[in-house]
Amino acid sequence: MKAIEIRNKYLEFFKNHNHKIIPSAPLIPENDPSVLFTTAGMQPLVPYFLGQKHPVGNRLVDYQKCLRTNDIDEVGDNRHLTFFEMLGNWSLGDYFREESIAMSYEFLTKVLEIPNEKISVTCFAGDEDCPRDNLTAECWKKAGIPEERIYFYGKEDNWWIAGEEGPCGPDTEMFYDTGKEPCSPDCQPSCGCGKYVEIWNNVFMEYLKKDGKYTKLQQHNVDTGLGLERMTMLLEGKETPFDTEIFKPIMDKLQQLSKKDDLASRRIVAEHLRACIMIVCDGGRPSNIDRGYILRRLIRRMTRQMNKLEIDLNELGELIELNIETLKELYPELVDKKATIKEVIIQEKDKFMKTLVRGEREFMKVINKIKAQGKNTIDGEDIFKLYETYGFPPEVTKDLAEENGLEVNMDEVDKLFKEHQNKSRLGSEQKFKGGLAGTGEKEIKYHTATHLLNAALKQVINNNVHQKGSNITEERMRFDFSCDHKLTDEEKAKVEELVNKWIGEDIDVTVETMKKDEAIKSGAECMFIEKYPDEVTVYSIGDVSKELCGGPHVKHTGELGHFKIVKEEASSSGVRRIKAILE
Ligand code: ALA
Repeated sequence: MKAIEIRNKYLEFFKNHNHKIIPSAPLIPENDPSVLFTTAGMQPLVPYFLGQKHPVGNRLVDYQKCLRTNDIDEVGDNRHLTFFEMLGNWSLGDYFREESIAMSYEFLTKVLEIPNEKISVTCFAGDEDCPRDNLTAECWKKAGIPEERIYFYGKEDNWWIAGEEGPCGPDTEMFYDTGKEPCSPDCQPSCGCGKYVEIWNNVFMEYLKKDGKYTKLQQHNVDTGLGLERMTMLLEGKETPFDTEIFKPIMDKLQQLSKKDDLASRRIVAEHLRACIMIVCDGGRPSNIDRGYILRRLIRRMTRQMNKLEIDLNELGELIELNIETLKELYPELVDKKATIKEVIIQEKDKFMKTLVRGEREFMKVINKIKAQGKNTIDGEDIFKLYETYGFPPEVTKDLAEENGLEVNMDEVDKLFKEHQNKSRLGSEQKFKGGLAGTGEKEIKYHTATHLLNAALKQVINNNVHQKGSNITEERMRFDFSCDHKLTDEEKAKVEELVNKWIGEDIDVTVETMKKDEAIKSGAECMFIEKYPDEVTVYSIGDVSKELCGGPHVKHTGELGHFKIVKEEASSSGVRRIKAILE
């Protein structure tokens, strides 16, 4: 089934169930400078969950253009997208669990004709804030889902909130069984191995989170979200969204134009180009701050990947045309904006190319210097210099370095950017979520929290746990670590308890400079030994943690607030990922 048919059937179905169709809000939120892009269908509706009367009614349905950039570095794999379309239906104080679930089940099985046995569902297991959602399970049983395909999970999987605070509640997620072999006898929808694909999320939004506390909202709402690209992929029987009609024409064209064969690069170009087209169409323009910087970064990454594939950059105009041709059925607004879209993207590409040509020459000099020294790490200093002198973007240096088999000390780069920022009070790039220049107060706290988490995991699991990566934004931390199993609820609880205990003890964080060998001998933890220069800084948190690290960190652990794990999932083989927040 084509994407447009799925969307139309969705709107039609809910219209027949007395919903009013409302238009998709623009990708760039109106009157809301606090968010960069619309990230979910519910976002423009927040006032109505809180009690304001919606002008068209209390049953709504729409399709919403969304952009999420938290996982931008993961685009290129078989599933991550930045731009996507979310189909959603809402009850504003009208129907609740029973009717919502009955309608979802009917839509999936009758309209989309997904067999019952392909569907599994998950419900909220309950905690001190909200009881176990047995009612939702009952509704599913009544609809026809047998008990063995109903799972219960905690807040990390079955609770939904946009960001840190606001309307929220337990949710129920629907999963599609692809028929792949289970990854283990314990394989479940939450395990992330790819057997189960999440298709729809219904949030029973009857709580408000404010100042870390949950209170009941006056009205109960339902907020749902169904990812159009994913559903299209499943109904077309494809393995990835890139094989569907949404991406296929552009993927084929890219293959035809490439002189190098690299599937991940082709996916990045196809995905980012679509996102850029949609952003520009809704009024976004490249700049050095906020949403403009995200657009700039998307165009830069795409251009770099086109270069890597050895595609003639003069083809960009034609690629944009082809993309608009493919997408215009879904987004007719693209047609009128075609000239502007082309102009904005091509101009930015040209600007970037000038920087790139100059920067790459300098970059190669740096590489030759490093290789001549027999090293395999590019220092933060070098990356920073390329940025400061030649305007060469650090994320591009990082990509290039990695392509040349070099490690990058991003912590050190962060530190230098921080210093630079303090000096010049410029540093607008820091606002880029998940970017490397983000070292505000919040990020510093999260950085210290990663050291505590690392130490706690070693105590709770074992000493073989090692950090494999981390990514920090103002809102959360992500921490990857070696571990051969999914953490149990008990392990997660213990880890949280330990980290919070150390925070409660308000331990001093100290730093000293040492010779690298000495630091290692003294038992300091370090992620990539070869990544560090001979003189290193070592951060200690009392007796709890000692790590080679560029900093910066808070002075006392008491500054961190309350530490909470919000998600634990597989990252890659033998590597788990924790997402956590400080509240
Ligand atoms: N707002 C919910 C989500 O984004 C439906 O998953």
